[in-house]
Amino acid sequence: MNVRHFIIPIVLSVFLGTIAVFAAPDLIKPGEPWLDDRGKTIQAHGGGVIQQGNTYYWFGEDRSRSNDASKRYVSCYASQDLVHWQFRRQVLVLTNVENLQPDWALERPKAFYSAKTGKYVLYFHLDGAKAGENFGYNLARVGVATCDTVDGQYTYQTSFRPLGHESRDIGQFIDDDGTAYLIFEDRPFGFRIAKLADDCQSIEKEICLVPQHLEGGALVHYDGLYYFVGSQLTGWGPNPNQYATAKSLAGPWSEFKDLAPPETKTYGSQSTMLLKVTGTKTTTVIFMADIWRPGAQWNSRYLWMPLEIGAGQLYLPPPAPWSLDLKTGVTQIQNKAP
Ligand code: GAL
Repeated sequence: MNVRHFIIPIVLSVFLGTIAVFAAPDLIKPGEPWLDDRGKTIQAHGGGVIQQGNTYYWFGEDRSRSNDASKRYVSCYASQDLVHWQFRRQVLVLTNVENLQPDWALERPKAFYSAKTGKYVLYFHLDGAKAGENFGYNLARVGVATCDTVDGQYTYQTSFRPLGHESRDIGQFIDDDGTAYLIFEDRPFGFRIAKLADDCQSIEKEICLVPQHLEGGALVHYDGLYYFVGSQLTGWGPNPNQYATAKSLAGPWSEFKDLAPPETKTYGSQSTMLLKVTGTKTTTVIFMADIWRPGAQWNSRYLWMPLEIGAGQLYLPPPAPWSLDLKTGVTQIQNKAP
């Protein structure tokens, strides 16, 4: 047989395969394992994303099985397109600094950049029970760690209750003018929105107490309105996440409404952040959420979907693979019913 009978089909299929790879849209696939540049599942649960120049940095709880069980870890990933993420490092490896019982928690890390100091400041929910206590979320504090670079090794600084209040789930919000806010769940009262000091290392003042018992708090400013999203207090179990709107962060806030058909329980997910992408054609707001797997947390998944947003309404479409053109802001959901 002539060697061309082998070579031509091989060359052709490699060529066509290459075209297929380049032509395939880069999709975000809610609920599926999301691999980093090393081929490992992204460990950034309960996370947050900040943008520095053209790069997005995703921080979150690293729950890898290979971690030392006595420590808690925060990982950081970098991306230029929000689809492909490069693992940078475990930016925080924390020991049991508050001498809590072994099941202590570091959750929902969020990174801020202070233009005043040029430092990065990581907030997280630090919790656990002291010896003799039997409830695991008694401490109810934020922990703070700092670093000179966005993805360097963060140094633990302190922990405190913001403005003296209980603080469990936290969220972050950077307004369009760059002002940084912390959202925190204050169990006896509801949730609070507080402004960070210029160095981001302490809380300057409270902006609002919303007497609604919601956690996983997230905010976005869109077309003249603030939209707040949060989840009910049902632990790792999903529930119908809700939203409200206000013209000012200080309120008054509208009544709370469901984000998705309540029977779907937010498609099995829990809010962690709202990420706004302003493109040349449109502005997209991404609902970032976790699909928790309490018995196998390293295998918890992510649900990121573009929201339908405007005129005080918010709607989370059913999860499906989707693409985002960062330049234009335009998204396309696969197989979406017309
Ligand atoms: C959820 C919270 C999670 C984690 C979990 C523990 O309500 O959002 O971050 O704390 O409870 O049960």
